[in-house]
Amino acid sequence: RFERLWFGASLVLVVAFIGTIIYGAVGPGIAMVDDSGGTVDPSVIADGDYESVDNFREPGVYDTEDGVDVYVVARQYLFQPGTSEAIRVPAGEPVTFHVTTPDVTHGFNLAGTNVNSMVIPGQIAEFTVTFDETGKYGIVCHEYCGSGHHTMEGQVVVV
Ligand code: CUA
Repeated sequence: RFERLWFGASLVLVVAFIGTIIYGAVGPGIAMVDDSGGTVDPSVIADGDYESVDNFREPGVYDTEDGVDVYVVARQYLFQPGTSEAIRVPAGEPVTFHVTTPDVTHGFNLAGTNVNSMVIPGQIAEFTVTFDETGKYGIVCHEYCGSGHHTMEGQVVVV
């Protein structure tokens, strides 16, 4: 008798647990459309010379045919843009982030979403996100990068 009860109870727990994971992955109206894994021809920015790539010389938001490209440089201990000025992107269009760093490994996580990437020196992390609604998201560095790691954050504003 009791065994059957416990079996039923644990089954309910398992289903609830899976449901939580699915909800967490789908999140609040935001989808990480494409995660290319963050490696694009590392030779392009060998020796951390990210400025050899157009648009990293002047990081920011660039219009494309169907959305925007966002070029972000992460460094100890800020996102440029993102920290001193928010990254402003449109809702309902693909937003492709290109993120690199000249110093050490950082992370790029949009708080409360599944947007999450490592940012490695000599590589460009690239991922595309479509924001369904306007809103604000905190950018968090989630890889330990030095004494100021816990202060390294920024903001994305979806308009
Ligand atoms: Cu940058 Cu932690």
